[in-house]
Amino acid sequence: MSAKPFSIAIDGPAGAGKSTMAKALAKQLDAMYLDTGAMYRAFGLHMLRRDAVNNPAAVAKCVEDVDIAVRFIDGAQHLFLGDEDVTRAIREPEVSMAASTVSAVPEVRERMVALQRKIAEGQNVVMDGRDIGTKVLPNATLKIYLTASAEERARRRCNELAEKGMPEPYEQVLQDMIRRDYQDTHRAASPLQPAEDSVHVDSSHLTIDETVALMKELALKAISSAADR
Ligand code: DC
Repeated sequence: MSAKPFSIAIDGPAGAGKSTMAKALAKQLDAMYLDTGAMYRAFGLHMLRRDAVNNPAAVAKCVEDVDIAVRFIDGAQHLFLGDEDVTRAIREPEVSMAASTVSAVPEVRERMVALQRKIAEGQNVVMDGRDIGTKVLPNATLKIYLTASAEERARRRCNELAEKGMPEPYEQVLQDMIRRDYQDTHRAASPLQPAEDSVHVDSSHLTIDETVALMKELALKAISSAADR
C-alpha cells in the first residue's frame, strides 16, 4: 500500500520568504511546489491589461473564462495567459498590487482555490500563499505561518528585484508592502491570518538555510506522526 500523500501549507505576508523557503523545502522532500501567488498575479496582469483592476464586477466576470494555466517546464512553474508565458511579467511591482486587489473578489478566490486543489491532487505538495492552511488545504499535514519584520521583508524584496534587473527604492518597496499587507489582511474573503493549528516561524534573524532546516524538521515530524495515525 502506498503512503497517503502529504501536504505542507505555508502562509504569511508578502516578502516573508515563502517562495524561496517553500521551493527549497519541496526539493528536499521531493514534493511538488505550487506558488499560488503567481496565479493571482497572472490574473491581476490580465485585468491590468484591461484597465479594470478596480472594477469588481468586471473582475468577477473575467475570472469565469480567463485562460490561465500553470505548467511545469524543467521542474519550474510557469504561468500562462492563453499561449503567452507571463512568468516574468507577473513579477513587475505594479502587478503585485493588482494581484492583491483582484484576489479580494470572492469569485476569483473560488476559481483559484479550485484550480490549486486540482493541480495538487494526489501528490506530495508544498504550497505557499495567504489562505493555504485556512482554506485551500485545511487538512494539511503541516501548516506553517512564516513571517519576518516589515523592514526585513522590504530589504529582501529590494534585493530580489535588483537581482531580477528591476530595482526599486527601499522606501517605495516598504510602503507598497505595508499597503499590500493591510489589504490582504483586511479583505472579507479569506483574509490572511494564521490557521489556528499553524506553527509560527519568524525568519527575521535566520538565514535561508536555517529557516529551511527548521521547516524540514517540522515537516518530517508531521509526516511521520501522520503516518502513525
Ligand atoms: O505571494 P505573492 O506576493 O506572489 O501574492 C500576490 C498577491 O496575491 C497577494 O498580495 C495576495 C494574493 N494571494 C492570495 O490572496 N492568496 C494566495 N493564496 C496567494 C496570493
